[in-house]
Amino acid sequence: MQIPFVDLKTQYNSLKNEIDTAIQSVIDRTAFIKGSEIKEFETAYAKAYGIKHCIGVANGTDAIYIVLKMLGIGTDDEVITVANSWISTAETISQTGAKPVFVDIDEFSTIDANKIEEKITCKTKAIIPVHLYGQPAEILKIKQITDKHNLYLIEDCAQAHFAEFEGQKAGTFGDAATFSFYPGKNLGAYGDAGAIITNSDELAEKFRMFANHGALQKHHHIMPGINSRLDTLQAAVLKVKLAHIQKWNEMRAENAAYYDKILQGIGDIICPPKRKNVKHVYHVYSIRTKKRDELMRYLKEKDIGTAVHYPVALPFMQAYADLNHTEADFPMAAQYQHEILSLPMYPELTKEMMDYVAETIKNFYS
Ligand SMILES: Cc1ncc(COP(=O)(O)O)c(C=O)c1O
Repeated sequence: MQIPFVDLKTQYNSLKNEIDTAIQSVIDRTAFIKGSEIKEFETAYAKAYGIKHCIGVANGTDAIYIVLKMLGIGTDDEVITVANSWISTAETISQTGAKPVFVDIDEFSTIDANKIEEKITCKTKAIIPVHLYGQPAEILKIKQITDKHNLYLIEDCAQAHFAEFEGQKAGTFGDAATFSFYPGKNLGAYGDAGAIITNSDELAEKFRMFANHGALQKHHHIMPGINSRLDTLQAAVLKVKLAHIQKWNEMRAENAAYYDKILQGIGDIICPPKRKNVKHVYHVYSIRTKKRDELMRYLKEKDIGTAVHYPVALPFMQAYADLNHTEADFPMAAQYQHEILSLPMYPELTKEMMDYVAETIKNFYS
């Protein structure tokens, strides 16, 4: 049996008519830039989040950059974030001229909230927790810290569409939250796409302006901005897919629960721990094993796709060599980067496929 790490084709086939019609409609109207689908998607996304504003942008990386810039973060500032994430979370801080200050992960692979305060200095302006793998970080504790120290709170929700912490949607706790709709994400476009959500009228206007060449009206450039608009074709796809995201998230959670059951007790496998008070949306199902590299190779030979999120933690990347971090600074991230292995995870994964993954892993250990 062949089991890809991600399968976008099965989902497309299940919605083919709706998606093809939505795309064709954009082409028929040649509404490629600023088409009506953008506003329709933004309105529907904001409504689904119970928040005032959604601003569609070109990708999840730009979303973070736009928020940081419009919060006035730049040279001589520091922004605290987590040691294990995709590079975007840190590189956008660097792009503003500010310094990323990393905090180690906890056992849930999210920022260790107990280690944040020791990193706060007079230069700290914001904290960016990442709801990694689809599981919210300890956001209430983090919010207490940002409130106490008067810092901005930006939630990186690129992997956590509609995840919840104590019944409240991750992404609605801070000043703004950023999303990626990269094709493999829980809510994925058919190319690059992203969004920012916020309850602040003032910030929403600034985000929209900066992302559109610093203008809300053509030729009225209020500030130097960038070109980071959501593409109409992507908005059309996202609008169709938004109606299915809750069901898909539930299917992912069911698959995770099944993996948890069938992987129990195999070799030295540790299944991903879940916080009790969250709705985890399982963008990634990341197990841990001391034999990560051997197991990954073995699964590849057996046609099972896997990935590592992420093989090098951010402080140890060449891009941040100038910060002179050592593994002792981030012991958990240093350990986990050698042990984590993401198994195939998508709504359309069947029990038969997961049984095959578990059987193959069992064979590896025997
Ligand atoms: C945690 C995290 N932040 C930000 C991003 C950036 O999103 P994009 O690829 O849409 O720029 C990603 C995408 O992989 C991500 O996983």
